[in-house]
Amino acid sequence: MRLLVAGGAGFIGSNYVHHRLGAQPKDSVRVLDKLTYAGRRENLEGLPDNRFELVEADVADRDAARAAVEGCDAVVNFAAESHVDRSIETPGEFITTDVYGTYVLLEAARDAGVRHLQISTDEVYGDFDQGSATEESPLNPSSPYSASKAGGDLLVSAFARTYGAEALIVRASNNYGPRQHPEKLIPLCILNALAGDALPVYGDGMQVRNWLFVEDCCAAIDAVLERGTPGEVYNVGGPDELPNLEVVRRILALTDRDESLIEYVKDRPGHDRRYSLSAARLEGLGWKAQVRFDEGIERTVHWYRENETWWEPIRSGEYRAYYERQYGKALK
Ligand code: NAD
Ligand code: DAU
Repeated sequence: MRLLVAGGAGFIGSNYVHHRLGAQPKDSVRVLDKLTYAGRRENLEGLPDNRFELVEADVADRDAARAAVEGCDAVVNFAAESHVDRSIETPGEFITTDVYGTYVLLEAARDAGVRHLQISTDEVYGDFDQGSATEESPLNPSSPYSASKAGGDLLVSAFARTYGAEALIVRASNNYGPRQHPEKLIPLCILNALAGDALPVYGDGMQVRNWLFVEDCCAAIDAVLERGTPGEVYNVGGPDELPNLEVVRRILALTDRDESLIEYVKDRPGHDRRYSLSAARLEGLGWKAQVRFDEGIERTVHWYRENETWWEPIRSGEYRAYYERQYGKALK
């Protein structure tokens, strides 16, 4: 297959491109990415030149999107503004990329007659006090980020129903693993622990997230891309649900730090208390998560310890100013 991977220079997208080209020696990938603060050329180093190209462009640019889809057999759309806290600060960019950008790419894929796989999130279902969200659960997003993702999802479903577009949606739970931007809880805490900075825990730290190792997410995307039914939604739930405080404690143990580094800070406005996904439909396609949290978090801490050249430029750049705005204090 020749794939167009939008947002392929970010965390999950780059893991997916490495995974796909490694597993499928005849495939080729074109990445379309705006290279925002979250997208990096370094994430795509080491890929085979003859099977990979990077096009630097905005997914919301119609001409660029159409040109990028040309010659491809399918589109996988990771392109998004992805951080909830930044969506509270500046919601407009989320609507432009996550809603309008999705529409532009979807239309380009429909006109080219190719499959469009939208990468979405469990956050569109909102808080789930009890039980697990199925694909039929109502959309109930809480943040500007999740509302924008829900808007993108609704357009994908509408294109499938109205135009018969070959469009599908994957809704994944919280991913973690190599190359995740340090604004997100797990890499933030790993790098702060390594540096001796405090680990900021929002509210009481008892919010529950459903953790999915990024390699398992990549395998799920392959299953849906290859065997999914057009018009359908597939949840990708991780194997472990943990309160944030427990995640932070595991990181402290793996970095030989004690709990005095934990700092309880002001809660995130509109903070969802719990996410939980049922992945039964996807398991019907033969997928099952392989990496439990104990193993995945150890591998992730190890990766950040070994890859300072990857994260050091981020931690010394724009992220420092963001960190000060968000947490009211400077990193060491
Ligand atoms: P990320 O922020 O690491 O990467 C996003 C990528 O999209 C970056 O490379 C960025 O440069 C690119 N991008 C942003 N705006 C763009 C635009 N206008 N045009 C082209 N490219 C643009 O995000 P991630 O964590 O890898 O998430 C990828 C996708 O998966 C997102 O759609 C997100 O909503 C979804 N998702 C993420 C998680 C998670 O836990 N990280 C879970 C479920 C779903
Ligand atoms: O659930 C899937 C979603 O997971 C994706 O759609 C998003 O793109 C991705 O960013 C992630 O969103 P979360 O808001 O769940 O991830 P984050 O790492 O920002 O936060 C995880 C939990 O940790 C959440 O309950 C908020 C909390 N938290 C986060 C940060 C950054 C803290 O307590 N302290 C922090 O400093």
